[in-house]
Amino acid sequence: MFIDSHAHLDDERFDIDREMLIENLKNNNVDLVFNIGADIKTSKASIELAKKYQHIYAVVGVHPHDAKDVEDNYLDILRELSSEEKVVAIGEIGLDYYYDNSPRDIQRKVFKEQINLAKELNLPIVIHTRDASQETFDILKEASEEGPIRGIMHCYSGSVEMAREYIKLGFYIAIGGPVTFKNSKVVKEVAQEIPLDKLLIETDCPYLTPEPLRGKRNEPIFIRHTAEKVAQLRGISLEELAKATSDNAKRIFNVNNI
Ligand code: NI
Repeated sequence: MFIDSHAHLDDERFDIDREMLIENLKNNNVDLVFNIGADIKTSKASIELAKKYQHIYAVVGVHPHDAKDVEDNYLDILRELSSEEKVVAIGEIGLDYYYDNSPRDIQRKVFKEQINLAKELNLPIVIHTRDASQETFDILKEASEEGPIRGIMHCYSGSVEMAREYIKLGFYIAIGGPVTFKNSKVVKEVAQEIPLDKLLIETDCPYLTPEPLRGKRNEPIFIRHTAEKVAQLRGISLEELAKATSDNAKRIFNVNNI
């Protein structure tokens, strides 16, 4: 029924029950999970999960937090990892000026290099952006002018207007757990307003647990709460929302698994 378009099941918080949790996904209405890398180590871990489980796919890339730690040959490593059968995108990549864990010039450099890699490999990109909205947009716009790009704005938290601009550039808008939070007015507007054929849902687990489970470790099956909230905001059935977002995820990641 549901596809979780963004998860981190390699995270150590799943060490105690990862196998059981993954094996029970389908019984709990989660058909596919896209597991997202944040550095080389977690990208490799994502690939291992994808190899082991038919219903997991892998995305490989270096998160802005980790941009400062890349080795000189990291693009070659990512290129190599991308040739694995179930690697479907480059991510998560982008800018994070909230935490500033890496110097901003290095964040920008590593972001742009990975956009170019994705273009070279003809893969979509999964974007993380925090407190860097305009600059992220400018970089993607510039990249799109040099040749088509496509991808996903992960856990989107910007305005409706900006979401429409990203869609024009070739992006889907992914809504996560925050849409269920009481004070998330703008995310709710976005979930309501953007075209259904550009909408994705995701957990970002183990982070961003939706209400009413906030405070617990997030899991792919909790995507139901996010889906219910988005369906309610749009005035459509849960089934319609699930089908549309699943079709969209399969389209952007180019996967025909189910
Ligand atoms: Ni993430």
